[in-house]
Amino acid sequence: MKRLVPVLKQDGVNTDLIMLIRTVLAASKEIAFRVSQGELAGVLGSTLDENIQGEVQKKLDVVSNQLLKDILADDDSVRAIASEEEDYVVGAHPEGKYIVAFDPLDGSSNIDINGQIGTIFTIYEARDDVAFDSPEQFAQKGSEQVCAGYVLYGASTLLVMTTGGPTRCYTLDLTHGGYLLTEDEMETPINSKEFSVNMANFRYWPQNIQSYFNDILYADEQYAGSSVRYNAAMVGDVHRVMSRGGIFLYPADSRAGNDNGKIRLLYEANPLAMLVENAGGLATSNGQSILDISPSSLHQRVPVALGSKEQVLEFDSKTSAD
Ligand code: F6P
Repeated sequence: MKRLVPVLKQDGVNTDLIMLIRTVLAASKEIAFRVSQGELAGVLGSTLDENIQGEVQKKLDVVSNQLLKDILADDDSVRAIASEEEDYVVGAHPEGKYIVAFDPLDGSSNIDINGQIGTIFTIYEARDDVAFDSPEQFAQKGSEQVCAGYVLYGASTLLVMTTGGPTRCYTLDLTHGGYLLTEDEMETPINSKEFSVNMANFRYWPQNIQSYFNDILYADEQYAGSSVRYNAAMVGDVHRVMSRGGIFLYPADSRAGNDNGKIRLLYEANPLAMLVENAGGLATSNGQSILDISPSSLHQRVPVALGSKEQVLEFDSKTSAD
């Protein structure tokens, strides 16, 4: 099996970016170790703090955030850092070539139940036209990402990553501590009958989304045999969707603060959209390509539909405004 670095070299990735990816992955191995230790690592449960989204931070979120932040701040190639767990941009090296954003532990409600969780990350080239620690550094469209990936801490630890070419999947080999290539090119099936969505939000959705699901659940026979699969960790749900097809949805809803849904553009929607699209799927927000959205703020949320191409196209056409 091929190791990570030779694959990146074969893909023509430049040495600086390879080194930075290795930095991110060094932190991921530390996190994987702590996740696998569970209670034994003393990092389960909640702290009393809330992050900027008003969510109670889990201890493992805090530890993972600190690990990533510290290791990236030590890397000369990093100009600025953004994290789901940081209110503001963290400046690093004014001459650094790259900026990095991450969700240190996506799906944190799964931490205490030994469920799937993951680290999502994205890398862009730094901008020279704004201050090194300005939030404007991150006001780049998802199509500008030079690397997007996630590490899924599941039954095994998987790295799913693209540097612009195919989306590749690696498995962490605990015997030597390296990521080995286990799926050369992920391919999202073009269609399926699986839906990944929090159905309990039905009452809060706009009417067009309710009608779409009424068709699937009751009216339209072509959907007989469909399944809902949702584990409340986007990273795990998107991994399933990419692996065996389906659509992941987190629409806007009528609850306070959810007028653009819940998924954050910078460190959730954009990297996952790039991974899905480079695996042959589609990722949209109100019918627009997620990767084409011009960001308006660091922690901006966007409605999300991503996964099997035909399912996403069908969702968009059935729920479009006209
Ligand atoms: O955005 C964070 C997140 O935990 C996602 O990973 C997940 O898909 C979603 O929130 C779950 O939200 P809810 O509990 O509202 O379904």
